[in-house]
Amino acid sequence: MTVQELTVALGERSYPIRIGRGLLDRAGAQIKAAMRGHNAFVVTDDVVAPLYLDRLLASLDGAGIAHAHTVLAHGEQTKDFAHLEDLLDAILEARAERKTMVVALGGGVIGDLTGFAAAVLLRGVDFVQIPTTLLAQVDSSVGGKTGLNTRQGKNLVGAFHQPRLVLADTDVLDTLPRRQLLAGYAEVAKYGVIDDEPFFAWLEANAPRVLDGDPAARAEAVAVSCRAKARIVGADERESGQRALLNLGHTFGHALEAETGFCDEMLHGEAVALGMVMALRLSVHLGLAPAADAERLERHFAALGLPVRLPGNRAWDAGRLIHHMGGDKKVEAGRVTFVLARGLGACFLTREVADEALETMLRDFVGE
Ligand code: NAD
Ligand code: GLY
Repeated sequence: MTVQELTVALGERSYPIRIGRGLLDRAGAQIKAAMRGHNAFVVTDDVVAPLYLDRLLASLDGAGIAHAHTVLAHGEQTKDFAHLEDLLDAILEARAERKTMVVALGGGVIGDLTGFAAAVLLRGVDFVQIPTTLLAQVDSSVGGKTGLNTRQGKNLVGAFHQPRLVLADTDVLDTLPRRQLLAGYAEVAKYGVIDDEPFFAWLEANAPRVLDGDPAARAEAVAVSCRAKARIVGADERESGQRALLNLGHTFGHALEAETGFCDEMLHGEAVALGMVMALRLSVHLGLAPAADAERLERHFAALGLPVRLPGNRAWDAGRLIHHMGGDKKVEAGRVTFVLARGLGACFLTREVADEALETMLRDFVGE
């Protein structure tokens, strides 16, 4: 199967995204071509390392790239200041220079933390993303948002720092647990819901192939998603406008994650899936979107095993969710920016949502 190449067009900071099978074993030559220096530092986690680190290091050897690496603990708790400090120490102790290429091999946690380390190390070094989760391949590795969590909340410290190259080897998704794959799939579907109904319809027909590992379907889903993200980021890198559409489902999702404590009880992608359902429900409640479109989204997610109702293991409270939404970093002058829909494939941004309408919809959704 051929490798697909897309470009994130950002002038002199433009970079390619390559998507296809077997890219990991060919990473060395591609990283070499993107490098300005002679050495690389690889960052990964303790789940990904035993699966893929040796293959990446062998490929760097094959390309004549000197390298060092570090293996961090897996999980969201690694995205914090303490791990950033350890990571910067490790890279500096390996005698990093301005031209050292930092390589993130892992999911969104490793990509976000490593990207931020690259942004601040020696006032900014180059980095490469080798995303190994579906979520990272279709979302977090593209677009240059890097950062970490603080005790006040998620992703509150960070930088825009674009990678020099993204290599999405779709074969590595074979080892991803089904639950993680599904969570990443929510972000794939997001692109269809935002502004591409034909893609959503394609997903309705092909999602089982994407999830069950059909190589062509997987590559297509990743490529369409990355193309959509590259287009939006190319037009609005710093989220002064339309990039905020990518937050579809995230304001509601963030509130659910805040309530559950940002842990395995509810994965980010699961919260985003529920958040998209809630955004469509609110759009219907406001008379903006046909109910049939919200039902269509819920049918699709439910058929795949993504959540469309809040789990019954805790008492949900509409008021608390609204409180958490106010803590989202997309709030401006106290007003939340909502991504709503006029239908599947027709999303838009608005701050004009009456508090009563939000509360009524949420009370209904949580079953109060
Ligand atoms: P993750 O990085 O925690 O990975 C999920 C789990 O899968 C981890 O345990 C990891 O070790 C394991 N794993 C990774 N690749 C594997 C593979 N190929 N086989 C088996 N196991 C594998 O989580 P994620 O869902 O990739 O990323 C979530 C993070 O991404 C969050 O911190 C979120 O804030 C961030 N994010 C960032 C952006 C952005 O634009 N920067 C966008 C969306 C999400
Ligand atoms: N994940 C949202 C963005 O990159 O803007």
